[in-house]
Amino acid sequence: MDRFPTLYTTRLILRKITIDDIPALLKYANNPKIADRIVNIPYPYEEPTAVFRISYVHQGFKQKSRFVFSIVSKAEPSLIGEISLHLNNTQDGAELGYWLGEPFWNQGLIKEAIARVTQFGFRELNLKSISASCDADNIASHKVLEYNAFKQTPSHGKTLIYHIEKQLN
Ligand SMILES: CC(C)(COP(=O)(O)OP(=O)(O)OC[C@H]1O[C@@H](n2cnc3c(N)ncnc32)[C@H](O)[C@@H]1OP(=O)(O)O)[C@@H](O)C(=O)NCCC(=O)NCCS
Repeated sequence: MDRFPTLYTTRLILRKITIDDIPALLKYANNPKIADRIVNIPYPYEEPTAVFRISYVHQGFKQKSRFVFSIVSKAEPSLIGEISLHLNNTQDGAELGYWLGEPFWNQGLIKEAIARVTQFGFRELNLKSISASCDADNIASHKVLEYNAFKQTPSHGKTLIYHIEKQLN
């Protein structure tokens, strides 16, 4: 895979981030409700963080160690969030991560993005499994994973692990 993939859903385009996305990244990622849930999103989220983010994403694609897609709304063609697959060392599994700008919550958009990126992981990256970890009190995140057939694995404490295996049929 030489070129960063672009994926489509009914309402979204999932594509490579560019410097033109910086204003939208600063607008939507700069939110303590997002920073509280995602380890590598700081608050406040300022321009040097956005610039570093772009090189982190491009470097990850070059190494094929992570695929971080900008979520773009077809209705408002600018970045409204991100969704990522971070591959494990054996490259047969990955950790899913995602966030959406708050004005776009509760419209079912991330469910579409998760469905498409999960399909990409299984079909294009040939992953055997995908997992996601989220805070035990992050109910919206549990719901979007369960909607996409992720199952909660037995765990204790404040972090829940969700998991989905590639279907062989
Ligand atoms: C997690 C996140 C992407 C969900 O986005 P979203 O646009 O609200 O997701 P959806 O609209 O597809 O679905 C959310 C579901 O949770 C429900 N929900 C939302 N907030 C809720 C809350 N505080 N308590 C209970 N349910 C809630 C919605 O009603 C909806 O339920 P439904 O499936 O029955 O319709 C968004 O909240 C976010 O970016 N949060 C900050 C970052 C984050 O938590 N990332 C995940 C880390 S594991």
